[in-house]
Amino acid sequence: MRLSLSSESPATVAADAGVSGVWEAVAADTPFPRALAELDRASGGAISGAWKSGELKGKRKEIAVFHRTSGGPRIVLVGLGPRNTHDAEGVRRAAAEAIRSLAGRGVTTAAYDARSFVAGRVDLASAVRSIVDGAVLGSYRFTKFKSKFPDTPVAASVIVVGPKPPKAVTAAFAEEETLTGVVTWTRDVANLPPNEATPARLAEIALELGKSHELKVTVLDEKQLEKLGCGGLLAVGSGSSHPPRLIALEYPGQGANAPTIAVVGKGITFDSGGISIKPAPSMSYMKFDKSGAVAVLGILRAARALRVRPRVVGIMACAENLPSGSSYRPGDVVRTYSGKTIEVLNTDAEGRVVLSDALAYAVKNYDPAAMIDLATLTGAQTVALGDTIAGLVTKDDGLAERLRRASAATGEAIWRMPLTDYHRELVRAADFGDVRNSVEIPLAGMLTAAAFLETFVDDRPWAHLDIAGPAYTTPTTRKYQPAYLNVGAVGFGVRLLSRFLLDYVPGKGRRR
Ligand code: BES
Ligand code: MN
Ligand code: ZN
Repeated sequence: MRLSLSSESPATVAADAGVSGVWEAVAADTPFPRALAELDRASGGAISGAWKSGELKGKRKEIAVFHRTSGGPRIVLVGLGPRNTHDAEGVRRAAAEAIRSLAGRGVTTAAYDARSFVAGRVDLASAVRSIVDGAVLGSYRFTKFKSKFPDTPVAASVIVVGPKPPKAVTAAFAEEETLTGVVTWTRDVANLPPNEATPARLAEIALELGKSHELKVTVLDEKQLEKLGCGGLLAVGSGSSHPPRLIALEYPGQGANAPTIAVVGKGITFDSGGISIKPAPSMSYMKFDKSGAVAVLGILRAARALRVRPRVVGIMACAENLPSGSSYRPGDVVRTYSGKTIEVLNTDAEGRVVLSDALAYAVKNYDPAAMIDLATLTGAQTVALGDTIAGLVTKDDGLAERLRRASAATGEAIWRMPLTDYHRELVRAADFGDVRNSVEIPLAGMLTAAAFLETFVDDRPWAHLDIAGPAYTTPTTRKYQPAYLNVGAVGFGVRLLSRFLLDYVPGKGRRR
């Protein structure tokens, strides 16, 4: 999508549609909003008429289209809900509702009147940022394998109308244009089907990204993994004819003293469960089990494009989990890169097994000041927090606070969950290894998984994000999700962790 920031007036801007926000009427007799007076005149009084008759209320998700008596851009009004509870997420959603409503209407350019989205804590820069989010993310579709796509393409260009934009606004616009471009790219990779996105193909994509974005990329293939003793990745990948890969990407950061942040992602290109096979219904969604690793690709791309201060290392733990005569099995004990052994009790708890190597690899080879992993790790996460909120597990209050702020700024929701010695004991109670990958008590599955991962972080500041729910939407869940999502991969974590990195100043963010 082409984007531009313009200081033209909504009345004269060259676009097929002009989009403005409308606040919700507080009572049945709420007078017609004065802010809409100019548009009302242009529509020959049609807008105030709709308001008085109660057809136009300004409720969230509401869309009303009007025409100018003199021709020119049609007027698209989008409901913003009550003014006093307005926030950036409201803008994101409204901007997406508007652009989606224009699909198939012959509209190729839409101009948002950014000022009409400003109220309370949402200033012009924040409004512009969220409009870009809503417009770009809201019109995303994965069409790579559609020979004929039914609708005409959604708006190709968005003009954010406003007064002569101050520097803070142009900077916010440029940054968000980059970030949403990265999210789009991330979604395109995460949506690739499992027959195409094999571990080796993900490695190729990482190498291509390294070339285009000046990142150092190291790919470890199965022979190198063998040499290094990455028994976790090898065990999980052993049932597939597409062998595992450990992929490391490096962005050097600003200055010689830049702290190193490691971002580690679970990259299971397809999770059938292996010998502990999953039931058939919805197994196809397990192509999204690579979402954490693909988000890592996006985060590294954003880190470079936006030149964040810290040095950023991305580690992708990629393997395919399939049943076959060469698969790993329940009962296996595998030795991992760290030297610690895992007793495999359930081959479907494979994410933690590949991450054991990746986390230890990050510690040993990059000496990170902090580590964050992203993983579609447990069904228990979806039971506890659903498909809109990721689970955060960390001992480190400073990391938790930085992530909380990044989450508030981006709308990528997270919720901190506890980790106690009880959960640690449960994973250590292995009969034949140092830890076991599954616990016979089917309780607190998200937390026992986190306790397992903690075994491999060598006491570094570390935060775990379980994104099993929010990583993707399905035709069913999508109906209830914000309009800026669409069926398939969400790219969850890219805006969150890019924000985290952009705002990362060593020492700050700690709670007093
Ligand atoms: N990839 C799944 C988790 C998952 C479930 C992601 C639903 C997205 C949606 C993971 O590998 C898995 O199978 N976890 C098991 C662990 C259990 C066997 C200990 C689970 O959560 O059931
Ligand atoms: Mn699994
Ligand atoms: Zn999995």
